[in-house]
Amino acid sequence: MPFVNIKKQYLAIGMLIFVILFFFNSKPAFQCQISTDNQVVSYLPIIYGITPTYTRLAQKADLTRLSQTLMLVKNFHWIVVEDAETKTDLVKNFLKETGLKYTHLNVKTHSSKHSTASGVEQRNLALDWLRDHLAKIEDKRGVVYFMDDDNTYALKVFDEMRKINKVGTWPVGIVGGMRVEMPVVTDGKITGFNAVWKPFRPFPIDMAGFAINATLFLEKPDAKFSRKVQSGFQESEILKYFTTKDELEPLAENCTKVYVWHTRTQKPSIINPKKLKHPPVISDAHIEV
Ligand SMILES: *[C@@H]1O[C@H](CO)[C@@H](O)[C@H](O)[C@H]1NC(C)=O
Ligand SMILES: *[C@@H]1O[C@H](CO)[C@@H](O)[C@H](O)[C@H]1NC(C)=O
Repeated sequence: MPFVNIKKQYLAIGMLIFVILFFFNSKPAFQCQISTDNQVVSYLPIIYGITPTYTRLAQKADLTRLSQTLMLVKNFHWIVVEDAETKTDLVKNFLKETGLKYTHLNVKTHSSKHSTASGVEQRNLALDWLRDHLAKIEDKRGVVYFMDDDNTYALKVFDEMRKINKVGTWPVGIVGGMRVEMPVVTDGKITGFNAVWKPFRPFPIDMAGFAINATLFLEKPDAKFSRKVQSGFQESEILKYFTTKDELEPLAENCTKVYVWHTRTQKPSIINPKKLKHPPVISDAHIEV
């Protein structure tokens, strides 16, 4: 049966060639994955999102909505700072359950009659933590973004901020009495700002409308928010350390797209059960809302 023998030989040679090809092919492919070229292509700057938060009825609802956006963002580190003397169980348990990479901090605002600025102490504490953290790790690259816990963030805003060199900016929807507050861009450069609320601010930009290269916070150790500035000037206060109006990098297609909205959660009104003619059957005090 010479015919069958030839077939077997071909089969054996064929398999040998297949095995040889497999090994030769897989080796370069493996090397490619660990080569530096490939790392440059797939490098995704880490985003440090800084969110001050305080106890209120809609807090968990707001944090839930935000966290479920963040679950879809790659390479994200959430720094949540409670305005509280001690960390609350609600936020502690909530963060644990999100599965997100996070740092939980707290500092109580010292109320002052001179200033109603909110989030100053909390954001500054987060920046202290960030500098400490960056000093300890080898890769100091990243992006810092200040995020309110009740704003609305499209995933695209995170893609945009990873493009920044120093400081990038983009439009913010429904803020400052406008449909959209935004930088005016001519030939790829920012030439002005479309803002009606305190347009004389050095940077008439909402907190949600910019992100800063994290490495710069090591180069400017004094950069922080201040209680001494009037309301609406916190953004300008921090930005002045890092950039000028000319240097700001316009993102979101030359500032023509809205990827973040300054939404506000309405304060809920709850009825005191004691004042009801038909009170609820049981108390709900043991349920976390
Ligand atoms: C930030 O600046 C540093 C130092 O200038 C640079 O190496 C890095 O690529 C920049 N971008 C990011 C996202 O870190
Ligand atoms: C922004 O505008 C500049 C100048 O007109 C143009 O070259 C560039 O491609 C634009 N960028 C984007 C992302 O649309």
